[in-house]
Amino acid sequence: MTRGIFITGTSTGVGKTVVTTGLLRLLAGQGIRAAGLKPVASGAKSVGPQRALRNTDALELQAAASLKLRYEDVNPWVFEPAIAPHIAAREAGRPIRLQEMIDWYQRVTTGADVALVEGAGGWRVPLHPDGFLSDLPEALQLDVILVVGLTLGCLNHARLTVEAITRSGRCRLTGWVANAIDPGFERRAENVATLADLLGAPPLAEVAFHDGAARSPHDNVLVEFRPTPQLGAAMAVSPKA
Ligand SMILES: Nc1ncnc2c1ncn2[C@@H]1O[C@H](COP(=O)(O)OP(=O)(O)O)[C@@H](O)[C@H]1O
Ligand SMILES: [Mg+2]
Repeated sequence: MTRGIFITGTSTGVGKTVVTTGLLRLLAGQGIRAAGLKPVASGAKSVGPQRALRNTDALELQAAASLKLRYEDVNPWVFEPAIAPHIAAREAGRPIRLQEMIDWYQRVTTGADVALVEGAGGWRVPLHPDGFLSDLPEALQLDVILVVGLTLGCLNHARLTVEAITRSGRCRLTGWVANAIDPGFERRAENVATLADLLGAPPLAEVAFHDGAARSPHDNVLVEFRPTPQLGAAMAVSPKA
């Protein structure tokens, strides 16, 4: 099976897409065939004569990935309202089943050296009454990168998320990325040092804050995507023969 890395976050809006596209561009620059996947997205607009639903995260991953995939393969479960995915799926009459997600992953990653899979929200986002999006990385035994949005309260969110990631024994936390999403956040260096103590995995990159004018599109944020020396070993992907 193709090596996969699941990108989760301490919450929604913490920079998962910024980090995933940053990593995809780094891999593309190394000649690695990397797929960018967003299994489940809520919040989408219908475009074109077919009125096909398109989510901006998935479009950005599709554009940044070196392995070119059809939109439907990048983001098979897409829902229009920007609400919790299990509610959107229920309203759309399109339940999200684990086995279908596993089959999808295996089908679309056959030509990839590595797949980066962006989650939705945080680790334990529910998908249906008795399941979570985390069932997918656990079933596939994917490595996990945690994006920590640096805000007051992030130490607790980050530690709880890591405890949940490692709980099943099926997913390895490859590392974490500190993203400076809040310009008013104080004692950044001390908090990042505390994260290093709390999370039991290496920091893989730091992303500095970019103000609104320079922020959109995401490419501008990536200028400040600073990999740490540990990133290379954590990713450790080489092109398939
Ligand atoms: N370092 C940063 N500085 C400023 N804005 C950021 C930064 N990282 C993310 N953002 C902005 O915050 C929003 C959420 O980021 P995004 O990557 O979409 O988060 P997620 O994928 O976790 O929901 C986006 O508008 C993005 O441009
Ligand atoms: Mg996102």
